[in-house]
Amino acid sequence: MMLLRSYRAIIRITACFSLYFLRVKTEILQIDDTFILQAIEQQLAEAIEARPLAPKLAEAMRYAALGGGKRIRPLLTVRCGLAAGACELTSLLPAAISFELLHCFSLVHDDLPALDNDDLRRGRPTTHKVYGEALAILAGDALQSLAMETSLASPRHAAAIATEVAKACSDMISGQVLDTLGGFPAECTDQASQLEMIHRHKTGALIRGACRAGAIAAGASTDLLARLTRYGSAMGHMFQVVDDILDITQNSQTLGKSAGKDSAQGKTTYPSVHGLPMSRRFVAELLSESESALSGIEADASALSTMARTLATRTH
Ligand code: IPE
Ligand code: IPE
Ligand code: MG
Ligand code: MG
Ligand code: MG
Repeated sequence: MMLLRSYRAIIRITACFSLYFLRVKTEILQIDDTFILQAIEQQLAEAIEARPLAPKLAEAMRYAALGGGKRIRPLLTVRCGLAAGACELTSLLPAAISFELLHCFSLVHDDLPALDNDDLRRGRPTTHKVYGEALAILAGDALQSLAMETSLASPRHAAAIATEVAKACSDMISGQVLDTLGGFPAECTDQASQLEMIHRHKTGALIRGACRAGAIAAGASTDLLARLTRYGSAMGHMFQVVDDILDITQNSQTLGKSAGKDSAQGKTTYPSVHGLPMSRRFVAELLSESESALSGIEADASALSTMARTLATRTH
């Protein structure tokens, strides 16, 4: 009798705990993008604030990183982490912020006269236009090291996340070199593969890394990490094909950056190599590749699927 009573009590306690965790998990899984984006904005500002930096440097970094941008990469980190079963947003934010810091660094340097020589970014003058080239270069450098430092503050799996940050960063820089100066590996001879190599590196690396970092922060299984890596790869490639299309189909005001720059600078882009209709077909194929990567995931991956569709059809 005693044994039966204790057995029932154990069952009741277990049921209570399962219900509690299910509720917590459901609440977390249902958090909307607005809430996540607010947390990202706040943590980004705090990451820069927390570091004692030369006042001019901190100001240029704030200008480059805050008050603009779609925050796609940190949102992907958080969404991948939640799909991989993370129960708290706080466990994903350091990884998420790291990828946005890296991205902001890449934009500041991308706009420099030695690279794309752009005057407009996120609807405002570019960082070097406001602060001069020297400070823009140094602010980019400092955003990069802050990204590393921030990733190492992840509460779990910090070393693995920092490795993702470092690898994605050097892959992105490789892509920028290929995009700006060429010099492809010997086996990459035709224009279509060179183009794919540029895009998978200069833009794909950070987006893929952002997805992987979220999954790693959540302690994803090898199989789930592989699926989210495949999703991130497709999304990263697709993101730059869409960027190339928008450069010729939208105006500067909508984009918040100068439209029509790619052809003016003779860049190798999807529309310049494959034409506009074919570029749109590539977007559709990459979207369906991202959907098929998600199809085997047991957890609720609907937010990732929505993001993929939104990014395929974005107008800025
Ligand atoms: C622009 O990225 C640079 C590319 C890699 C194409 P985003 O379109 O994500 O830029 P923001 O962060 O929203 O300004
Ligand atoms: C930028 O590609 C990629 C990186 C910033 C690493 P683009 O040069 O096409 O980006 P936008 O169009 O200036 O944003
Ligand atoms: Mg560029
Ligand atoms: Mg550019
Ligand atoms: Mg572009």
